[in-house]
Amino acid sequence: MKFATIGHLLNEKNIEQFPESWIHGNLVVSPELDVYGTKGYITGLTLTARQMMELPRETVRKYILDAALFLQKDYGVDIIQLGALTTSVTDGGVWVAKQKGYKGYVNHGDSYTAAVTCQVVLKALHFFDLEPSDQIIAIVGAYGVIGEAASKILVPQFQHAILIGRRKEKFKDLEKNINGDFETTVELKTKETDVIVTATSHPDALLQPEHLAKDAIIVDVSQPPNLTYEVCQQRPDIHRIDGGYVDFPVQIVIPGMPPGKNFACIAEVIMQAMENERKNHVGSIDLHHLRTTEQWAEKYGFILKELTNYGKRVNRN
Ligand SMILES: NC(=O)c1ccc[n+]([C@@H]2O[C@H](COP(=O)([O-])OP(=O)(O)OC[C@H]3O[C@@H](n4cnc5c(N)ncnc54)[C@H](OP(=O)(O)O)[C@@H]3O)[C@@H](O)[C@H]2O)c1
Repeated sequence: MKFATIGHLLNEKNIEQFPESWIHGNLVVSPELDVYGTKGYITGLTLTARQMMELPRETVRKYILDAALFLQKDYGVDIIQLGALTTSVTDGGVWVAKQKGYKGYVNHGDSYTAAVTCQVVLKALHFFDLEPSDQIIAIVGAYGVIGEAASKILVPQFQHAILIGRRKEKFKDLEKNINGDFETTVELKTKETDVIVTATSHPDALLQPEHLAKDAIIVDVSQPPNLTYEVCQQRPDIHRIDGGYVDFPVQIVIPGMPPGKNFACIAEVIMQAMENERKNHVGSIDLHHLRTTEQWAEKYGFILKELTNYGKRVNRN
């Protein structure tokens, strides 16, 4: 199966990082990649994260569908992966999978991202000699696609969890499906927590120094990141850790990516294509599939080897 990921720009300056030959109208398309014989492309809409969330939803969805149709017709792509906020604006990819003109498969890549997020959290606690059962965790974006799966897996392991979102009514389903000691809130109640996971569709910085407890560990999955480099500089006591990067067994050169690393969601679609699994993975995450993605990752080497912050290895302060 031939794959393509569809992401978008993080900010206006991003476009300058790509060679002009990669730009095709509203889409940036990488040269053809070859991962142990499985071929595909990494692509991105020329919309910024803010435009993704602020332009009318129908306009943004049209960009995404046009990209999927173009990749299907002109590049022979069989499966697309909805990267970054393309999942958020398409109901977790469900909308794309329902479109008649697009005949291929759709994967949001969030299953392996959620798996890696949980791995990062537990690995980080181990790294700092802490036990989850003694810690309070906050999950921001808790009823989102990644947030929901991460909440199901992590909450039972912690002393207490604060599940954070923006709409009170959206917590009803989540509350039924979570075990453990937790509360839900629409306030950004992170100040007293030991660990924070961010998995939001907020298009830029969300956490400010006043939202962070001393020595807090922040696993930032969001793209664009919810915890900026500047805030990390202002708060040298805290530990920001990348939530969704994994090591890649093959070198894929994408401007802006730390060497040897790439997003877990990109790894997921490549692994699905390598497995020739002809299925959609959209909407709420099936935890059985999430575990399967971890097995694929072991098999093909797309694993989390070290904790990083903005791509650089995390050290103890
Ligand atoms: N690193 C990686 O490999 C990787 C892979 C995939 C995705 N991601 C990133 O992970 C993040 C989550 O992705 P997803 O697919 O799970 O998105 P999603 O399903 O849209 O979930 C995002 C959630 O964030 C909530 N939210 C937005 N702004 C918020 C705020 N200010 N406070 C609290 N909650 C807020 C949204 O609530 P409402 O529904 O009420 O708006 C939504 O439930 C995105 O930033 C995406 O780019 C990273």
